[in-house]
Amino acid sequence: MYAAITLFVFMCLSATTNADHHHHPCHAPNMTGFMSVLALKGDIKGYGAFTYDSMGKKLRFRSNESHPMNTSVGLDLLMFFDEGILYEIDSKNKSCEKKTLHCTISPLDVPDDATFMSTANGGSPTIEGEGLKVTTWTGSTADMKGHYSMSVTMGCLPVWSFFFHESSSFFVSLTEVENEIKDPDQLLVPSYCLAVPLEETPEGTVNSFLNEFM
Ligand SMILES: *[C@@H]1O[C@H](CO)[C@@H](O)[C@H](O)[C@H]1NC(C)=O
Ligand SMILES: *[C@@H]1O[C@H](CO)[C@@H](O)[C@H](O)[C@H]1NC(C)=O
Ligand SMILES: *[C@@H]1O[C@H](CO)[C@@H](O)[C@H](O)[C@H]1NC(C)=O
Ligand SMILES: *[C@@H]1O[C@H](CO)[C@@H](O)[C@H](O)[C@H]1NC(C)=O
Repeated sequence: MYAAITLFVFMCLSATTNADHHHHPCHAPNMTGFMSVLALKGDIKGYGAFTYDSMGKKLRFRSNESHPMNTSVGLDLLMFFDEGILYEIDSKNKSCEKKTLHCTISPLDVPDDATFMSTANGGSPTIEGEGLKVTTWTGSTADMKGHYSMSVTMGCLPVWSFFFHESSSFFVSLTEVENEIKDPDQLLVPSYCLAVPLEETPEGTVNSFLNEFM
């Protein structure tokens, strides 16, 4: 519903040929937590709870009603990255839009073709409980007009990501992450969505996670 009105789109990630062969990106485990999305111009675009199935590549994100943002009021997304399907769910009205998901770009998992950049200690590496060691991975978007930088813990839990694009850029941070799926029902298609037909994508529209916040 939000993506359709924007002319500016994040293109899909694609393979790069200059990947560092000494380091292979890790993959996130199953997770539950909270996600904040900020535009780099300064405005907060969204805050809410997420559930992620790392094997099935499924994501649920629901905006938190106690932190309403103009761009994401009532935003409730269910994404199936492998199948290329996105549901925009309205649980109050029990209605649903089913769309083609074009990009696997998400702040939750480092793409396979990302390039290792660095390992660094946030806070203090010597004071117990005051440090966080992160690995940072970078890469380009398929149209080469954008790039990303993702930092994850040594166990591959995402901490923060930057997505830079000529039209808009985002900072995403993940907090209170636990490496389990607490409520598997979050990843099931609601019954009132099952019979909904797949919408046609208007020309020039790219549906991706970040496009939902523009
Ligand atoms: C992740 O969650 C999925 C769906 O609930 C489950 O099938 C899978 O076994 C889980 N994986 C791990 C490593 O726990
Ligand atoms: C909304 O956010 C608050 C923390 O700011 C949290 O305690 C609460 O559980 C969240 N609600 C949902 C539905 O995620
Ligand atoms: C949200 O929308 C209201 C009314 O349309 C507007 O006054 C306000 O500036 C907007 N806030 C942000 C952060 O865009
Ligand atoms: C619920 O549906 C009604 C009628 O279809 C619509 O007018 C209303 O805006 C919808 N409410 C929300 C929150 O989308």
